[in-house]
Amino acid sequence: MNSTLTVTNFPDKTKSFEKVIEINNLRKGFGTQEVLKNVSLQLFKGENLAVLGKSGSGKSVLIKCIVGLFNPDYGTINVLGENVSELNNENLGELRKKVGFLFQSGALYDSMTIRQNLEFPLKRIKKDLTKKEINEKVNEALENVGLSDAIDKMPSQLSGGMRKRISLARTIVVDPMIILYDEPTTGLDPATSDEISSLINDVQKKYKTSSLIITHDIECARNTANRIIMLNDGVVYKEGGLTEFEKSSDILIRSFFK
Ligand SMILES: Nc1ncnc2c1ncn2[C@@H]1O[C@H](COP(=O)(O)OP(=O)(O)OP(=O)(O)O)[C@@H](O)[C@H]1O
Ligand SMILES: [Mg+2]
Repeated sequence: MNSTLTVTNFPDKTKSFEKVIEINNLRKGFGTQEVLKNVSLQLFKGENLAVLGKSGSGKSVLIKCIVGLFNPDYGTINVLGENVSELNNENLGELRKKVGFLFQSGALYDSMTIRQNLEFPLKRIKKDLTKKEINEKVNEALENVGLSDAIDKMPSQLSGGMRKRISLARTIVVDPMIILYDEPTTGLDPATSDEISSLINDVQKKYKTSSLIITHDIECARNTANRIIMLNDGVVYKEGGLTEFEKSSDILIRSFFK
């Protein structure tokens, strides 16, 4: 994708940014239920974009559309220059290698050690790596999330916060260009949530990734977002910088930004 656009909210107003995701007029429903009615948004290279919305507003549906798990009823989704709905399975598989997805549930493989959990996507996605390179990458990813000691443990031996950090390590181990975080801090205590938010920022700085952070945790958005989009009733209700949201007197926005 070569198109660039000047954005006003992120972070240098004079610069143009490359769009790594562009969604136009996305509609997605199930049976008679309209979940996403008309959603258009862009993710720019290198930014953390937080997508806020009430439970059931279609945030998870949105990222499942982005990775091609759901087909849109209408509209287009471009990821790294590819129209997701037009890709065959092979090309969709190739695209997914560049897009890391941190599931809402964490979704570690319970019967595998932490090392095996990280090796699994690496062996699938980076087929030409030697054993030594795989080891190095696994160790580096665990170091980045501060959990080198957990390498030979089983997921069941770790706390919820640790499992989230391991899920993040498993996402970054394959060097994705884009990371989609689905509720990265849900269910965690405030201190652990803050740790995860810092890790998201560390990953952005170190790997220069572009991230979509789906959340209803306002602190997570405050700590990580360069720009915020609020979804409501199937459309983008508001898009802007953190200060605009903090200052807004709109009742719905205030219900998040207390
Ligand atoms: N596979 C599916 N089949 C039918 N309905 C679905 C499916 N997936 C999601 N939905 C419906 O779409 C709506 C939005 O769900 P979604 O999971 O995207 O919400 P969410 O904004 O992620 O909520 P939360 O904050 O609780 O995670 C819900 O009403 C849900 O029941
Ligand atoms: Mg969800």
